[in-house]
Amino acid sequence: MSSIHRFLLVLRVAAISAVPWQSDAPKSQDFFSKDFLVDHINFILNFYEPRVLDSTGGFFQGFFQNGTTFDAHFKQIVSSARMVINFMRASNITGRPELLALGSHGLDYVENVHYQRTTDQYAFSILDGKPADMTQQAYAYAFLLGMHSSVVKAGVASNDSNVVRIFSHLERFFYLGDQQAAYLDTIAANGTVDTYRGQNSNMHMCEMLIAAYEATNNRTYLARAEALAHTFAVVLAAKAGGFVWEHYDEQWNINWNYNINDPSNIYRPWGFQPGHQMEWAKNLLNLNRHEPAAWKVQRARELFDGAWSLAWDDAYGGLVYGFAPNRSWCDTGKYFWVQAEALATAALLHEATSNMTYLHQYKRLWSYIWQKWVDHRYGAWYGFNLTRENELVNDRKAIAGAKCDYHSMQACITTLTVFE
Ligand SMILES: *[C@@H]1O[C@H](CO)[C@@H](O)[C@H](O)[C@H]1NC(C)=O
Ligand SMILES: *[C@@H]1O[C@H](CO)[C@@H](O)[C@H](O)[C@H]1NC(C)=O
Ligand SMILES: *[C@@H]1O[C@H](CO)[C@@H](O)[C@H](O)[C@H]1NC(C)=O
Ligand SMILES: *[C@@H]1O[C@H](CO)[C@@H](O)[C@H](O)[C@H]1NC(C)=O
Ligand SMILES: *[C@@H]1O[C@H](CO)[C@@H](O)[C@H](O)[C@H]1NC(C)=O
Ligand SMILES: *[C@@H]1O[C@H](CO)[C@@H](O)[C@H](O)[C@H]1NC(C)=O
Ligand SMILES: *[C@@H]1O[C@H](CO)[C@@H](O)[C@H](O)[C@H]1NC(C)=O
Ligand SMILES: *[C@@H]1O[C@H](CO)[C@@H](O)[C@H](O)[C@H]1NC(C)=O
Repeated sequence: MSSIHRFLLVLRVAAISAVPWQSDAPKSQDFFSKDFLVDHINFILNFYEPRVLDSTGGFFQGFFQNGTTFDAHFKQIVSSARMVINFMRASNITGRPELLALGSHGLDYVENVHYQRTTDQYAFSILDGKPADMTQQAYAYAFLLGMHSSVVKAGVASNDSNVVRIFSHLERFFYLGDQQAAYLDTIAANGTVDTYRGQNSNMHMCEMLIAAYEATNNRTYLARAEALAHTFAVVLAAKAGGFVWEHYDEQWNINWNYNINDPSNIYRPWGFQPGHQMEWAKNLLNLNRHEPAAWKVQRARELFDGAWSLAWDDAYGGLVYGFAPNRSWCDTGKYFWVQAEALATAALLHEATSNMTYLHQYKRLWSYIWQKWVDHRYGAWYGFNLTRENELVNDRKAIAGAKCDYHSMQACITTLTVFE
């Protein structure tokens, strides 16, 4: 970034720093610098690294704000896999090979405890070392694909055999064919395929197929990621008026009523999710980096700009969790992953367009996050969600299946590639 641009940003940020939620702000930082971003990755690691390793296998996944463990005997596969990704990716950036050993400890647990050899399936959750939930979800397999990709990329695996294995499993059980270019969502433990179809698992599949491509250079994964982005961000978004809706039936008709009384559901909320519009925009921009095309940038801008204008909370800062089809807010709470995803997307949008508005939004988000989300006392980011007014809702910093600072760390890693 040029110095004049930096100067303009300083002026703009000085102007917004008068709003009330910033009054007790710690000192602002140079959110664009490589040093700041690497420091913040280390800051998150400093919370997890000393306490995360469960010597009986895998990682502890529940932590109070002060770092004390809770639910020590429970492990959920998305957290198990995401923590491996965090350590594998952070090793290269921080130049610390010991993080690969920590990541490998988590990898062994996924492959030896979550994985059930007799059925060739992974347990969704583990309690006291035994499978507690054998529901098969594309959402979980997306992160297994991402986990093995991070292992290849880190040089811990010498070949892509596990990436191929997970991709083939998804082909066989979840992929609906090139006609639909989408994955089904859930298969019950008894083998029954759920008629529910959703965007969430497909969004994470798209994210992790891009990671698989970046780890292996195999264009099969890139082509599939692109097909998913087209299905959801173009074809299905058109059915919902431009934004990506969460829920569908078996024919991919929009299901406007699914969970209509549950806009705060953690995995299947009713309402448009600003955070998911941001994540699709991020996927489109990452695809655009590999295969530039105007439609990807255009759709990314529409999703980001639209979600930002409807969801940014001028009174308390941050983006709210959900808005209804009529654009009224249906959950005004603040969720950590929404802010993190928007941060990465704003940086990527600036990279793709050179437009200063996105840098301004990036800085605005970081200022908000720095003051309201970063736990300057105990480390990492405060819990999964805060109230609209950014008050803590409980004393939990990390929760199995909900938060292990994957989104916050990945936002820094993605952003580094822009500001490096
Ligand atoms: C940490 O926080 C938990 C939950 O709030 C509390 O029960 C525990 O006593 C605290 N531990 C320490 C050492 O402060
Ligand atoms: C990080 O990855 C890059 C690209 O693969 C490699 O050149 C570099 O040596 C790695 N650095 C460390 C510290 O592992
Ligand atoms: C691929 O790597 C795995 C370990 O990650 C190893 O067991 C296997 O033998 C390797 N396959 C080939 C063809 O090198
Ligand atoms: C690319 O990935 C696909 C899907 O996993 C696999 O079938 C194929 O063998 C891979 N191609 C190469 C050249 O490794
Ligand atoms: C299979 O499991 C699902 C989900 O628990 C349940 O709804 C369905 O009735 C079960 N089907 C059979 C044939 O047992
Ligand atoms: C907008 O939609 C919400 C949720 O369905 C509803 O509660 C509200 O009354 C609607 N507002 C208007 C102005 O129609
Ligand atoms: C926090 O998230 C939980 C789970 O989604 C939800 O029940 C609760 O309403 C949320 N709280 C706030 C303040 O948003
Ligand atoms: C920058 O992007 C914003 C948001 O899309 C747009 O309103 C504005 O016109 C753009 N500015 C320029 C100079 O293109």
